[in-house]
Amino acid sequence: MNHLYLHCRPGFEKECAAEITELATAAEIFGYSKTKEGQALVTYVTHEQDGALQLLNKLSFKRLIFVRQWFAGPAPVNNMDPTDRLSPLLQALKDLPRPAEWWTETCDTNDGKALSGLAKKFSGPFERALQKNRLLDKKSPWRLHLLFLAGTTALLGVAPLNNSAAWSMGIARLRQPSAAPSRATLKLEEAWHHFIPAEQWEERLAGSMRGVDLGAAPGGWTWQLVKRGMFVEAVDNGPMAQSLMDSGQVTHHAVDGFVFEPKRSVHWLVCDIADKPARVANMIGHWAENLWFEEAVFNLKLPMKQRYAEVKKLEQRLWERLKSLPCKAELSFKQLYHDREEVTGHIRLYR
Ligand SMILES: C[S@@+](CC[C@H](N)C(=O)[O-])C[C@H]1O[C@@H](n2cnc3c(N)ncnc32)[C@H](O)[C@@H]1O
Repeated sequence: MNHLYLHCRPGFEKECAAEITELATAAEIFGYSKTKEGQALVTYVTHEQDGALQLLNKLSFKRLIFVRQWFAGPAPVNNMDPTDRLSPLLQALKDLPRPAEWWTETCDTNDGKALSGLAKKFSGPFERALQKNRLLDKKSPWRLHLLFLAGTTALLGVAPLNNSAAWSMGIARLRQPSAAPSRATLKLEEAWHHFIPAEQWEERLAGSMRGVDLGAAPGGWTWQLVKRGMFVEAVDNGPMAQSLMDSGQVTHHAVDGFVFEPKRSVHWLVCDIADKPARVANMIGHWAENLWFEEAVFNLKLPMKQRYAEVKKLEQRLWERLKSLPCKAELSFKQLYHDREEVTGHIRLYR
């Protein structure tokens, strides 16, 4: 198992490859990455035979920014006979640990979408073959991934259930709430799914908490806070949806989000201002230094070039500031499914 397969946003293969190469090298699991622009997939091939498996053990999936999902396996299964795809796949499965469950996948591209019919159709026979050959083990810590790259080519591999994305292909399948004033609402909802374990939502996203939303209009993110029962100061020169103002939980400040200061500290700061990422990160650092929030979710729009380097630079700068705080702090970034040319940051201060 020397192939680590990584799903990413189409167009972000270089960032994904730069990230895995840097982390694998730091973990002394050497290899090289293979990418194809727009394929939404990166392969990291390790020099050591079980290097990909070692990476799954050594790296924390939560720390990866540009990787949506990952799994480790052997080289691709090529030249499959369309009348018998099962035989070569079952043969390849012999070298993998028995999984508790399995998913079929494609890449998040138009080519991938065209293959989803095949993937679906193949599911029945594949499941029956797994059952018949006793290849599933409910107690196993592994999930099997079967990714169709073409009608004749597939990738097989495993991912640890507790160190991978909980969504197939790393795509958060969330429904757009009809009452929310914008589609951007799903970015904040997905961020919470990613950064906050489900069993902690009641405590960390509790009703009666107070929040500030910078760059709030028309109110998709404010809507999420209000839905949790929070009271929100929404900062934006643009108008907020009337339905939110009618909730009685929202105060609108039509001022510049970069100069707004809260009268007292809040539980939640969220920020979706579309501006230079360094400027937004600097402002979030200022809020953190003043201990004005307990948790923050913020978006950083990415530049056209050097996107990976820019995120790492801003992450480093923020860390320097968080390290000097009198309390423990956590910082992480993720390019969420609902993010476009941007990444989402999360800070938690243990005040
Ligand atoms: C992507 S939209 C926010 C969408 C919002 N999160 C939602 O879910 O509906 C970006 C917003 O940032 C606001 N904005 C841009 N610069 C700002 C600034 N300096 N202060 C406050 N808001 C700003 C814009 O007016 C715009 O409404």
